[in-house]
Amino acid sequence: MDNLVMPREQLGVCAEGNLHSVYLMFNANDGVESQLRPCVANVAQYIYELADQYADSAFNGFVAIGANYWDSLYGERRPSELKPFPAMHADNRDAPAHEYDLFVHLRCDRYDILHLVANEVCQMFEDLVELVDEERGFQFMDTRDLTGFVDGTENPKGRHRQDVALVGDEDEYFRGGSYIHVQKFAHNLSKWNRLPQKKQEDIIGRTKIDNIEYASEDKPLTSHIKRVNLKDADGKSMEILRQSMPYGSMKEQGLMFISVCRNSVNFEKMLHSMIHGDGEGNHDHLMHFTQALTGSAFFAPSLDFMAREAD
Ligand code: HEM
Repeated sequence: MDNLVMPREQLGVCAEGNLHSVYLMFNANDGVESQLRPCVANVAQYIYELADQYADSAFNGFVAIGANYWDSLYGERRPSELKPFPAMHADNRDAPAHEYDLFVHLRCDRYDILHLVANEVCQMFEDLVELVDEERGFQFMDTRDLTGFVDGTENPKGRHRQDVALVGDEDEYFRGGSYIHVQKFAHNLSKWNRLPQKKQEDIIGRTKIDNIEYASEDKPLTSHIKRVNLKDADGKSMEILRQSMPYGSMKEQGLMFISVCRNSVNFEKMLHSMIHGDGEGNHDHLMHFTQALTGSAFFAPSLDFMAREAD
């Protein structure tokens, strides 16, 4: 952790997993920025305070500002790595961009509290924004993705979550904030479930039931964990904190993939490695069984930043 005192982060950025989630995507009405700045700060503060009130149900959340809307809301001083979602395409593998102005991420172990707070948040924003998308996530079978594999095992743990997720000294003005990337993946489960278990395991790079990582020499170059386990030029692991959860209904279901990180390059390099591969024809074979429907980039500023910019 960096040495200087960190501004207060939004608690949902680094929170541990929950049973339920609500994802609200908004676009702002024209010309409302001077009203929206204090409103965004109030919503974030409200969510922060509810984390205490509903501590028994582990309530948490955050508000994030879309990459394309940042300048309208806060002027030209922007987080140094904030840019639109890095849309990518190769053969039939697609990572499209679909941007929103605001993202409210709410999670809790009680569904009724989430519903109550989501209503309250929408009311606080009323007349300033339009709700353009909503999704609800849930914990599935011991934190498994709908493919049946445990998701989140190699996530950073304890204080290291903050190290990975929160901007530090490198961008002083935006300390305590976080780059957020969201992709709604719709799985083709009937295709996936027709695969023999060993083939599924080769695609992930871990065993299904016991969630054991393959030995390095056994990991196919096309396996998901091989493709996303990257090192930087100094040989240091490039990490992100994943806050993903399964979502959906019988009509459409999959993973709301959410990356939070102190930079945006780690996510972008991983996605590039999944879609374009390693330059030798090895892309991520998980992509044959799921399709990214959206791709959005946001920044979740610290509470102190939002309060400061409110007036
Ligand atoms: C690991 C599923 C998309 C980054 C994993 C694991 C599973 C999984 C089952 C292994 C267990 C674990 O460590 O969590 C999925 C599914 C996805 C998806 C179902 C979408 C349909 C992505 C994307 C990225 C990503 C888009 C980044 C661009 C990672 C990372 C790990 C991981 C960094 C940990 C690798 C390691 O250190 O072993 N994912 N993932 N995943 N995934 Fe994904």
